[in-house]
Amino acid sequence: MSEKIDKKILLASPHMSGNEMGYIQEAFDTNWIAPLGPNVTGFEKEVCAYTGANYADALSSGTAAIHMGLMYLGVGKGDIVFCPSLTFSASANPIIYLGATPVFIDSERESWNMSPVALAKAFEKYPNPKAVIVVNLYGQSADYDKLKAIVDEHHVPILEDAAESLGATYKGVKTGTIGEIGIYSFNGNKIITTSGGGMLVAREKKIIEKVEFWATQAKEQAPYYQHKEIGYNYRMSNVVAGIGRGQLKILDERIAKKKYIFDYYADAFQDLEELEMMPIAAYGEPNYWLSCVTIKPEYEVRPKALLDYLASKNIEGRQIWKPMHLQPVFKGGDFFSHNPEGTSVAEDIFARGLCLPSDTKMTDEDLERVVTRVSWFFGAEAARR
Ligand SMILES: Cc1ncc(COP(=O)(O)O)c(C=O)c1O
Repeated sequence: MSEKIDKKILLASPHMSGNEMGYIQEAFDTNWIAPLGPNVTGFEKEVCAYTGANYADALSSGTAAIHMGLMYLGVGKGDIVFCPSLTFSASANPIIYLGATPVFIDSERESWNMSPVALAKAFEKYPNPKAVIVVNLYGQSADYDKLKAIVDEHHVPILEDAAESLGATYKGVKTGTIGEIGIYSFNGNKIITTSGGGMLVAREKKIIEKVEFWATQAKEQAPYYQHKEIGYNYRMSNVVAGIGRGQLKILDERIAKKKYIFDYYADAFQDLEELEMMPIAAYGEPNYWLSCVTIKPEYEVRPKALLDYLASKNIEGRQIWKPMHLQPVFKGGDFFSHNPEGTSVAEDIFARGLCLPSDTKMTDEDLERVVTRVSWFFGAEAARR
């Protein structure tokens, strides 16, 4: 193997298409350097056309979109909001911004997403949460038919956190459009990026109108600055939206490359008895944002040891999200487990899981370098045992 030690293999980095500068140049040429303009409107329309969403509002981040979405659903002081435990903290933080209390739900094994079993348990104790946040983790859809059967019985709305799953489908439907409100993130590490940004999508126009009102400082219709509500400065810039328009053109290409990376690892690790790929549920097609693996329970090796070894070879990986119910900031929060004996699937995935480099700029040589290093690591580990 001809290893280039100096070349760092990244987990996931921005990957421009070449179309972006045209939109940015146009914004400069027409002086639309503002948090509104043709790129913002164009990007919203194009995301709707791609996802099948009816209406969209481009915002400054996915976190801002969750904040606005929960606010629209009426979440406020003293309310309960259900949220998966296995996710990034930005799924849960806006619950706190609004003075509400998160109740964390365990994962199911099949997709690592919200467990319907744990969700049903949570409803037994808290029959009236204000909203349920469902996340499509690592680019794979949650099992909405099962979740909705429970949630609909209680007449609670779903806010779909599709920050990581733009382009993924559930039974042929694009993720982000399944809940009452959906959100996407265009952060630098996402499948497409605007350098930083987000979008809220919804079936009903009135949702978008209200969110846009709040996100532009809640300015009332009046000949002077008149405010009846607290506003936010959350709209996406017209320059940044230009990057998004250029990126959206090659989203399907990026998904194809992400799948190629996942399949490459799956094929290469088929005979590596210590590792398992993240399960892919039959009901949908992920966007394969990050290729994740778990070390089988019978092996004592921890993800950190493998990640440290890869880092020493200039290969970047990450541990799986640390569950929210284990985070110091959410200490004391209620948590409902999937397993009858109370042990947690999310904790187990965290203890054994990691994300391998999934950068769409990786060459076959880069992929081979990762595969070889992972295999060598386990070979060396086996020799030690
Ligand atoms: C699951 C999830 N939710 C929300 C967010 C927040 O998105 P943003 O970084 O655009 O605020 C992210 C990513 O950052 C995420 O991975």
